[in-house]
Formats: sequence, C-alpha cells, structure tokens
Amino acid sequence: MRNGLRNILVVIIIICGFLYLTKYISTFKETISDSNISDQSVNVNNSYKDDETNKDIKSQLLLVNEDHSLEQAYTPKDLTIPNIKFASGVSNEEKHVAGIIAKPLEQLVAEAKKDGIILLGNSAYRSYKTQENTYNNRVLLQGEKLADAYVARPGYSEHQTGLCIDITNQGKYFVKGTKEADWLAENCYRFGFIIRYPYGKKNITGIEYEPWHIRYVGKSAAKYIYDNKITLEEYLRK
Ligand code: DAL
Ligand code: ZN
Repeated sequence: MRNGLRNILVVIIIICGFLYLTKYISTFKETISDSNISDQSVNVNNSYKDDETNKDIKSQLLLVNEDHSLEQAYTPKDLTIPNIKFASGVSNEEKHVAGIIAKPLEQLVAEAKKDGIILLGNSAYRSYKTQENTYNNRVLLQGEKLADAYVARPGYSEHQTGLCIDITNQGKYFVKGTKEADWLAENCYRFGFIIRYPYGKKNITGIEYEPWHIRYVGKSAAKYIYDNKITLEEYLRK
C-alpha cells in the first residue's frame, strides 16, 4: 500500500517536471526568435502594463489607436536614422525611428533590393507637434471625415512611437498591385513588421487600408498576425 502511494507521488512529480520543462522551452524559443534579427536586447525585454487588460506587454507591442493615446511628451527610445534611402523632401525628424526597429528595417529594405524591389522611407517618427500639423493640414485639404479615415489625431498616432514607417516607391505611387506594395505585404513579417491597417479592417483599427504603413512588432507576433490575417488589436486580445 505504502509502495503504491510512493509510486503515485513519483508519477505526479515527473508529470509536473515535464509540464514545467515544456513551458520553459516554449518561452525560450519565443525569446530567441524575436531577438535573432538584430541586437534588440535593450528594448525587447522591456515591457509595459496595459491599462485595460492589466497584462504585461512587450514595448514593441505598444498599442496606439483611437482608444489608446500617448502623452504629448512621449518620445521613443534611441531615436535614430536608419541606413535606408528616403523619398525626396522627407524632413529630418520623419527619417528617425525607434532604435529597436532600425536594423530590422535596414534588413527588410536590403532584402527587397535583392529581389529588384526599391523601397524608400517616407515618414517614420512624428512628434506630437508634427502629427498635429499633419492632421490639421489634412483637415484643411480634405475635411475632417476623410482626414480621420487616414490620419490619426495628435496623441493617437503610432508614428509618435517610432515603431512604424510609411514606405513608398520611386514613383511615390504605393498602392495594392504595385510590385513594391505587393512585396511588402508578403514579406514584411519576415523582418518583424506587419501591415498595420489591412484592407477591410477599419472597424477594428479605426483607419482605412494603408498598404504603405508598416509597424514593427517583433518576428513571432508578425508571423502570427500574417498567418492568421488579423490586426494588432486582435492579436493583443487573444
Ligand atoms: N496614418 C496613420 C493612421 C497615422 O496618422 O498615424
Ligand atoms: Zn503611417
């Protein structure tokens, strides 16, 4: 009888040990897959607390949309100008990105070039003030309704995070069906980016389809979002 009890205890301990090891290995794999694209050690391991879900979220998954704003003074970590070509007329400020995305972005642009695709940076980091000007100019040109469909109000734009960039091509005509937009849509996840405002998802993202706006979320999240054809909002809810 005693032996029987001991055997049961041994089996329970072995099962618990196995479950712990499985969880440890899967966490380890995720960390490796996100960090092997570049040296992101400073930012990737940082996290923030999501106010609504109370979940710890990696800083690269920072959600900014019409319901999640940034403080006016928020500035990204390690703002830097990536080593890529920019379209003519891009301001110095808008050439900057958060340090964490510089290398993945450079790799993306370099890989595209190997495939004969020339991608140019068009607008990356925008301070609160710049976003305010961008939004107000769009309202003057197109009215508030159309402006709100494509341009976030100041404090509600992820351009202020430095984690995204608008891409264009040499003709500054970056729409679905151009080889540059199609390449970006099919390949950006390989470098940790997503098409942040996909077609037909305005009811979730609050923004119309923007094939040019890519957002860095890290490789594992980007692959999941790409494979499952979902948005960042849906990914963070899962
Ligand atoms: N175009 C995107 C939505 C922005 O203004 O942040
Ligand atoms: Zn954009």
